[in-house]
Amino acid sequence: MTEIVLTIDGKEVKARAGMTVLQAAQQEGIYIPTLCHHEKLEAFGGCRLCMVEVEARGWTSYVVSCVYPVAKDIVVRTRSEKVDKIRKVLVEELMAHAPDSPELIRMAEEYGADRDRFERSASFCIVCGLCVRYCNEVKQKNAVGFIDNGARREISFIPEVARKECWDCQECFAICPTSYAQAAYLLTEALAFPGQRKEAVKVKKAPKPKRVIPIMPAPVTT
Ligand code: SF4
Ligand code: FES
Repeated sequence: MTEIVLTIDGKEVKARAGMTVLQAAQQEGIYIPTLCHHEKLEAFGGCRLCMVEVEARGWTSYVVSCVYPVAKDIVVRTRSEKVDKIRKVLVEELMAHAPDSPELIRMAEEYGADRDRFERSASFCIVCGLCVRYCNEVKQKNAVGFIDNGARREISFIPEVARKECWDCQECFAICPTSYAQAAYLLTEALAFPGQRKEAVKVKKAPKPKRVIPIMPAPVTT
């Protein structure tokens, strides 16, 4: 096992080759915000909220930490003026879809984001892909997938599969940051197979990703 030493927020961190910067930070209890990350799923790199500042060989760049591999001697800063600005705009964009998402409200407070900065979108799916990937990778049912592209991209349940598979599962409801997965399922049920419900739909206990307890260092000003 090759051990890689890097620095995160001034702390020397030892990581295994192949780990991502996010994993290396999390194992040290260093908080990096995430929305589309789930420990049981392949990295997706969709929300970009986990972006961090990386300094390597004198160059500074901004990378998506959930897909960026650790490398020897890199210096990672999880907060800086620029990182905070990027996260603020990302949260504002996401809040155009889901202004009432508790996770987004918490991040908006953290980064001073304005929930009304961008025009409201009709869909409150933020396209994090958690429901789609969880159904595919963990449950291997493929009852939900992406539809459309660009600004119209969102998820949709496949009625023929959902009718058979979703009754006893519904695990994606609890991992969805915006409640859209549950709303989309209920709409599918109402339109495609009404009256076939075995029991009342209720959100099951979430197989939640393990979250690192937030330790919020003060923003670094440069
Ligand atoms: S429905 Fe929820 S979990 Fe699924 S992609 Fe949209 S926001 Fe993410
Ligand atoms: S958590 Fe890394 S891009 Fe979403």
